[in-house]
Order: sequence, then C-alpha cells, then structure tokens
Amino acid sequence: MGKENLWLLVIGISVIKSCESLNTTTESVFSSNTTLYTEDYSDIETKFSLRTSEYPDEDLCYLILGQQDTISECGFNISSRTFVIIHGWSVAGLFESWVYKFVTAFYEREPSANIIVVDWLDRASQHYPISAENTRLVGKDVAKFINWLEDLEYPLDKLHLLGYSLGAHVAGVAGNLMNHKVNRITGLDPAGPRFEHAEEISRLSSDDANFVDVLHTNTRGTPDLSIGIQKPVGHVDIYPNGGTYQPGCSLKNTMKMIATYGINNMDQLVKCSHERSIHLFIDSLVNLQHQSLAYRCSSKEAFYKGLCLSCRKNRCNKLGYGVNKIRTTRSAKMYLKTRELMPYKVFHYQVKVHVFGQKNFSVVEQPMLVSLYGTHGDQEGIPVTVPNMSTNTTISFLVVSDVDVGELLMVKLKWEKDSYLSGFFGSNEFMIRRLRIKSGETQSKLIFLSKVGELAYLTQGGEDAIFVKSKEDQESRREARLHRLKMHGSFFNQATE
Ligand SMILES: *[C@@H]1O[C@H](CO)[C@@H](O)[C@H](O)[C@H]1NC(C)=O
Ligand SMILES: *[C@@H]1O[C@H](CO)[C@@H](O)[C@H](O)[C@H]1NC(C)=O
Ligand SMILES: *[C@@H]1O[C@H](CO)[C@@H](O)[C@H](O)[C@H]1NC(C)=O
Ligand SMILES: *[C@@H]1O[C@H](CO)[C@@H](O)[C@H](O)[C@H]1NC(C)=O
Ligand SMILES: *[C@@H]1O[C@H](CO)[C@@H](O)[C@H](O)[C@H]1NC(C)=O
Ligand SMILES: *[C@@H]1O[C@H](CO)[C@@H](O)[C@H](O)[C@H]1NC(C)=O
Repeated sequence: MGKENLWLLVIGISVIKSCESLNTTTESVFSSNTTLYTEDYSDIETKFSLRTSEYPDEDLCYLILGQQDTISECGFNISSRTFVIIHGWSVAGLFESWVYKFVTAFYEREPSANIIVVDWLDRASQHYPISAENTRLVGKDVAKFINWLEDLEYPLDKLHLLGYSLGAHVAGVAGNLMNHKVNRITGLDPAGPRFEHAEEISRLSSDDANFVDVLHTNTRGTPDLSIGIQKPVGHVDIYPNGGTYQPGCSLKNTMKMIATYGINNMDQLVKCSHERSIHLFIDSLVNLQHQSLAYRCSSKEAFYKGLCLSCRKNRCNKLGYGVNKIRTTRSAKMYLKTRELMPYKVFHYQVKVHVFGQKNFSVVEQPMLVSLYGTHGDQEGIPVTVPNMSTNTTISFLVVSDVDVGELLMVKLKWEKDSYLSGFFGSNEFMIRRLRIKSGETQSKLIFLSKVGELAYLTQGGEDAIFVKSKEDQESRREARLHRLKMHGSFFNQATE
C-alpha cells in the first residue's frame, strides 16, 4: 500500500512539475465565434468512427463533417440514439482494450444505437500537460461535430457523450461550445491534474448538457496529486468506495497481474482504479439484474457509519446507464460500496445498536465479524471496523454483503480481539437488547432481538452474539403492509410474516 502511494506521488509530482512549466495561450479557442463552426471544417483533426456491433474493435467507417453522404455510407441510423465515446490520455497512442468492451456493451443494451468512437489519439499521446491542453482543441472539434449533426436535423435529445479521464473534459469543452445542449454527458473519472481548479469553461461542469453524471474512482491524495478530479462537477457525482481507490486494485493484485502479463503492464497500477469507472458503467449496461444504488451523503465517514441509506426525496440513485436524471441545484456527492469484480453490486445495511453495561469504558477501531442469514442465502464473517464503542451509547455502522440474502432473518455479531493484550485485564463486554437494521436496497427497517434470553452479550474475543428478527415488531409489520400495498398484484403479495 505504501509503495502504491509512493508511485502515485511520483507520477503526480511529475505531472504537476510539467504543468507548471507549460505556458499556453488558450484565449484563441474561445474567442472565436460560433457561426464559424458550422461552416469551417478544414482544421478538424479529430476522427469520428461509427463502430458496428459486428466489428466493435475496428474503425471501418468515419463520419466526415460536411460530407453528408458519410451518414448513410456508415449506416448511421437517424432515428436511433447516439452514444459518443471519448478516450483519455494515451501512453501508447493506441486504443485501450476497454474501448471495444464499451462499444460491445452498448450494442448489447441498445442494438439499434449509433456508437461513435472519437479518435484523438495523436493529440492524446503527448506529454500529459500538452494532451491536457489539447482537450480544448478536441472539444471544439466535437462541438462542431454535434452542431453538424444538429444541422442535419438529428435531435440532440438522443445524444449522450461519455468521456473518460481527459475525455470527460473534452466532452465538457464541447458541451460549452455547441449551439444547443445534448441530452447527457457522463464523466468517467474526469482527469484531476490541471482541472481541479480550472474554470468551468475548460472542464466538465453541470451546465455542459441537460444532465451530467460523473463517477469518481481514483481521487486519492491532495487535490493537486489526484488522478481523478475530486470535487463534484455534475448533477450527480458518485464516489464508489469513497472514490479514492477501488477494491481489487491493490499493489498485491497489480503485482500478480504484472507477473502474469509482464512488466509492460506496470501502468495498470495507476490505471486500475481510474479505469474502474468505465467497467462500473459497462456493468450497468449489461447486468440489469444487478443494478447498483448510490446514496447521497454529507461525507464518506457518515456513509461508512451507515447513516445515509435513505432513498427518500431522491437521496438514492442508480449508478450508470439507468440513472434517474435528478438535477439538484448544488451537486451532491453520492456513495456506495462495490465488489472487486463484475457484477459490482453489493447490498448495504445500517446496523444500529445500543451497547450498555456497568463498566464505563470506550474503545475505538474494533474489529467485528457480522454474519447475515436471510430467506435467499447467507453471508458469514463480513469484516467491519467499528470506529468507536462506549458504554451506554448507540453505535451505527455500515455492513455490506456480496450475496443477496433476501429478507434478513438472523444476524450474528462477533467481536474479535484487536491484539494479544486485549482482554488481559478481563474481557471487555457490552450488553445488547436489540439491533435495528436498515437495508439500503429494499429500504426496509427491521428489529432483531437476542435469540437466547432478553439480553445478548457482546464479548471481546468471545462467542457470537445471535439475534433473530422480531415477530412482534410494529415497525416491520407496518413496513410489510405498505410493501404489500405497493406490490399489490405481484408475487410479493403473499405475506412474509
Ligand atoms: C512562460 O512565460 C514566461 C512569461 O510569462 C516566460 O518568461 C517563460 O519563458 C515562458 N516559458 C516557456 C516554457 O515558454
Ligand atoms: C460572429 O461573427 C460574425 C462575422 O464575423 C459577426 O457578424 C457576428 O456579430 C459575430 N457574432 C458574435 C456573437 O460575436
Ligand atoms: C433504426 O433504428 C430504429 C429504432 O431506433 C429501428 O426500428 C430501425 O430498424 C433501425 N433501422 C435500421 C436500418 O437499422
Ligand atoms: C448504563 O445505563 C444503565 C441503565 O440503563 C445503568 O444501570 C448503568 O449503570 C449505566 N452504566 C454506566 C457505566 O454508566
Ligand atoms: C461514565 O462516563 C461518563 C462520561 O464519560 C460519565 O458521565 C458517567 O457518569 C460515567 N458513569 C459511571 C457509572 O462511572
Ligand atoms: C467515542 O465516543 C464517545 C461517546 O460518544 C466520545 O466521548 C469519545 O470522544 C469518542 N472517541 C473517539 C476517539 O472518537
């Protein structure tokens, strides 16, 4: 982990250093006037490849601005939706393998759509600061392209731009320059260096399309060193796993990958979390049965306490393709946890519990194992670190399950020893009367009571404390009744209690 930090630091610093030494005149791009764009296509270097579902990996036909016959030649379907994919900084000057995966996923979900891959590889394979600067030129090209489509009476509400890394800012610049706004722009971990403090005109921002959604997956470090932009820049900004780095992207995993694929894959160390933004979106396209939900929250810390699993008043939203287009006035950060592999969806629970006893003490960072047993399945031994437990206080923490356990029936808590010394002066112990558990995915709130006796004992280094769903509970009955009413006519109709 330390090594990984160091790596990012080194790369980050080299990026910043080069930024500082770069002088650019940027005014020229924006001072020109828009009537020019619809007519002058001579300076366009960017290529617009219409990919097909048969050959998602090949550039067989380019849409050429001003040449209307390329529309029919390439088989552009004027009555279908169009997705425009914009790549980011390129080390090798070649398309990375995610591009064809993304195209394939789109065709799987929207078979009659037009999937266009924007090729700005020449300008993207420069020294980072030069490529970053080039986003303005490419953005201008993309804006001209969109304006041209609009002139051909293609409806802009069928257009969705998706930009990865620097490509997100290309989309942002384009959104700012085009004559009318497109339906949607998705920013996939928009690049951070050089953009964190940039004006809205030169980066992705929420006024660049009717709806702008953003995934932030690699925002570790101080703002200047972060690979992905840290601040929210859209209408909906989602920070999976806190947004810093992603599960499965540790140094250990990367080393394993390098051992398998060779040292040339060293850049995977940097890209794994960054590129996860794309794979999360692909997941949302192809795994309809595993739609991930994200929850609005004031901070990552509050989210990890399980305090933000509400869906009331649009507080939760779907990650990726199926997002609800909620335009809040101020950008709200949303969070979720994910698995390390596709499908990424996990199930979120808030566990709230009053711990009490005669002995007055307070412990922090305690390791706990939580086991969930439900109508569809079980997941045992989920590790959780409880930040703070004090006698006679109520604690709350987040538990996530990879498995859909269905409706929860039983829960076990096991308090592990955090060191050899703990328990040396007699074991720490709390008593618990009930657990309150809220599910983010179903929004149900349930109460669990001790399985044996009125009180359960949670002992450091001791046995599991076991809780079963309360049958008497008013709250859960009302929930179930409301649920039945809502689902009237479906198979959920049958009583579950
Ligand atoms: C950057 O601009 C400053 C003055 O604004 C100039 O002194 C310096 O030589 C320039 N550096 C480069 C690399 O062009
Ligand atoms: C754009 O340029 C044309 C001709 O060069 C000029 O007549 C027009 O006023 C300009 N429009 C804006 C908004 O600057
Ligand atoms: C164009 O797309 C529409 C749906 O968007 C579809 O019904 C039609 O068959 C497509 N045309 C061609 C030629 O693929
Ligand atoms: C905690 O509260 C209980 C009553 O609910 C009380 O009997 C007990 O003494 C309290 N413990 C401490 C350490 O204050
Ligand atoms: C336990 O500690 C709290 C504050 O830390 C104090 O207010 C309370 O009186 C203590 N209770 C006992 C029984 O010592
Ligand atoms: C833990 O919680 C107690 C009571 O809520 C509080 O007094 C204490 O400062 C907290 N400790 C830490 C390290 O957060």
